[in-house]
Amino acid sequence: MELFDLIVIGGGPGGYLAAERAAAAGLKTLLFEKRAIGGVCLNEGCIPSKALLNSAKHYEHALHGAAYGVTCAEVKIDQSAVVARKAKVVRTLVSGVKSKLRKHGVTVKMEEAVITGKTPEGFSVCGAGVTYNCKNLIIATGSSPAIPPILGIRENLGNFVLTNREVLELTQIPEKLTVIGGGVIGLEMAAYYATVGAKVTVIEMLDHIAGAIDGEISALLQKELGKKGIIFLLNHKCLSVEPGKVYAQAADGSQVAVDADKVLLSIGRRANTENIGLEAIGVNCDRGGILTDSRGLTNVPGVYAIGDVNGHHMLAHTAYREAEVAVNTMLGKQDAMRYHANPSVIYTQPEIASVGKTEEECKQKGIDYEVQKLSMLYSGRFVAENEGADGLCKVIVDRKRRTILGVHLIGAYSGEIIWGAAEMLEMQLRVKDARQIIFPHPTVSEVIRETLWEFAD
Ligand code: NAI
Repeated sequence: MELFDLIVIGGGPGGYLAAERAAAAGLKTLLFEKRAIGGVCLNEGCIPSKALLNSAKHYEHALHGAAYGVTCAEVKIDQSAVVARKAKVVRTLVSGVKSKLRKHGVTVKMEEAVITGKTPEGFSVCGAGVTYNCKNLIIATGSSPAIPPILGIRENLGNFVLTNREVLELTQIPEKLTVIGGGVIGLEMAAYYATVGAKVTVIEMLDHIAGAIDGEISALLQKELGKKGIIFLLNHKCLSVEPGKVYAQAADGSQVAVDADKVLLSIGRRANTENIGLEAIGVNCDRGGILTDSRGLTNVPGVYAIGDVNGHHMLAHTAYREAEVAVNTMLGKQDAMRYHANPSVIYTQPEIASVGKTEEECKQKGIDYEVQKLSMLYSGRFVAENEGADGLCKVIVDRKRRTILGVHLIGAYSGEIIWGAAEMLEMQLRVKDARQIIFPHPTVSEVIRETLWEFAD
């Protein structure tokens, strides 16, 4: 029986990168994927949603082109064409991932894999009735949408009630879209459909949108999305759905019925830990996912869990880094995850991006901090390119040590520049160190530099 150095289960960002890095380092690697190479992110998540949001951006620019001296006779959105382009983008990127896997000599099996037990060399995994052996195992099975026990959800799934998968496939714009859950997926899709003409209502049980994001940024985002006509029902919990209606209850007990042609269910995701044979080798899990240490190692030596399935951050870029840490550990190289400088982005228009601690978190943890903020209007490029818009840069600093604890942005390009702020946190730069960095001019990133100069030394 063929023995692999590494078997990876799951071909999403965590799994395919782990396989690629391991094979490039000389490990004989087998990758199992039961659905589509690229996983949720590439096929029905990060990438297709960005293709849709980019179409919305072009549409909005065309509608408001006169502000920039550009007019056109008629501006229309063709949802079928938007979805067709999205499919093309996905095809291109999936084939790119496949060709990299080929280039590095990864064996790919498009099969559902189940761990069957321990062997003298390591572990056995079964795919399509064939058993494969390996010395190391990486579990990268991802996550699935959480389906709550809300009346009417299960029976209407896939037609009236949509998840991240179906909402990206609609070839007709629903007249009324109701979104349950004002988190990342809900807001990105609410922003897209509102921009292209749907009447969108977001039902969110918390008193704010966008989860753990900085409170001020969350409020600004809600205000901007409100300008697109999105109605937010905050402090409302969804009670039940039936075709055409969504019922929700406010914190004060009052109830509302919201009309809907389609419903997007986006109340979070659950780690895929079932039916992969974890019990066959005794891998420990809790409700959040597979338990791992900072190297991605589970309680079973030689078995790693990376990406959404370990429940740490559920972000593709986190999975990428976890993949590298796991492979380095396997290769005997010193490496470990540090999550404190893990950036996050919400690709709405305006875009928001953040890294590190929020003010709320500092207060809660009793951290002595200082904050400075600047409008994005301090950036020449922002003003030149964003007629009538504003944005914000907020930097949080440890009052005594003067190290940068958090950077929070709302406005164009935020997602593209946040990595620089993440680097400041990662390197534990003090305000005076970060000020020495030369930023290209004119760029929106300069607003971070200017905000740093608002602090005393
Ligand atoms: P989420 O955890 O971001 O947001 C879910 C929201 O639903 C929360 O605000 C919660 O309070 C609310 N909620 C829960 N039950 C509810 C109920 N019964 N009624 C009303 N509101 C309720 O989850 P989401 O948006 O489904 O995203 C899932 C994952 O996908 C996240 O972990 C996210 O990190 C990832 N993702 C990341 C993206 C990015 O980085 N740009 C894009 C899309 C997804």
